[in-house]
Amino acid sequence: MRIDVISIFPEYFAPLDVSLMGKARAKGILDVRLHQLREWAHDVHKTVDDTPYGGGPGMVMKPEIWGAAIDDVIAGGEGLPRLIVPTPSGRPFTQAVALEYAAEPWLLFAPARYEGIDSRVMIEYGSRLRLDEVSIGDYVLAGGEAAVLVMVEAVARLLPGVLGNAVSAVDDSFAPGAMENLLEGPVFTKPPVWRGHEVPEVLLSGHHGKIARWRRDEALRRTLRTRPELIERGELSAADLRAIES
Ligand code: ADE
Repeated sequence: MRIDVISIFPEYFAPLDVSLMGKARAKGILDVRLHQLREWAHDVHKTVDDTPYGGGPGMVMKPEIWGAAIDDVIAGGEGLPRLIVPTPSGRPFTQAVALEYAAEPWLLFAPARYEGIDSRVMIEYGSRLRLDEVSIGDYVLAGGEAAVLVMVEAVARLLPGVLGNAVSAVDDSFAPGAMENLLEGPVFTKPPVWRGHEVPEVLLSGHHGKIARWRRDEALRRTLRTRPELIERGELSAADLRAIES
C-alpha cells in the first residue's frame, strides 16, 4: 500500500520507522512518502496560512498551497488515491473504516494545523476523488498529524504480512464477525500464579470449546461494564445473555 502524507511537520512521522510499521516499510508492504507542505509555498516566509474571512481567532490554511501540493502528489502516482483529511468535525474513524482503508492501494493524508484548511479544498477534491473527512475521537488535537499516525497504524496492521500472526487481528476488539461491537477480555501468560493471583483455570484446561465460551463471556461482561452502549441485546444468543446476566 502506498501512503502519502502532506504536512508542515513531516518529522512528526518518525515513529513510522519503528516496530511493526518500520518492518512493514522495510518489507515493502507499506510505502510511506512524506511531503513538506511548505515546499509548495513560494513567498520568502513559506507562508501556508492566512486570517479567516468573517473574522475570528486563529488562522486558516491557504487553498492554493494545498491544491498545488495535492495535484503534484496525485500526478506522481497511478490512478487516484483516497484522500483523507483528519478533522474533529469528520465522520468517526472506526475499525470498520480501518478495514475499508486497508483494502485501498493508495491513501493520501492531508493533516491540517491551525483552524483547518480552506473549505474550498474539500469541495474541489470531493468532486475529483474519494474524499473523507475523518475524526479519531471527540476531542481536539493541536493538528491532524497525531490522527494520521493513529490511522496509519490501525490500517497498516491489517495489511497481509504485517502482523506476525494474522489471526491476532481476527480476535481484536471491534473486529467484524464474533467480536463486532465487543471489547476483548483479559489475557494471561506464565507463570500460573503471580503474587497469589491465579490464571483462570479454564485457560489451563486445554478445552478449546470451553476456552472460547469463557473468552466470549469475559468480552461480554467487560463491554457491559465499560461500554454498555455497544451491546445490542437483540443480537445476543441465550448463552451470551446468561453471561451478562450472571
Ligand atoms: N484534528 C484535531 N483534532 C482531531 C481529531 N479529533 N480527529 C482528527 N483530526 C483532528
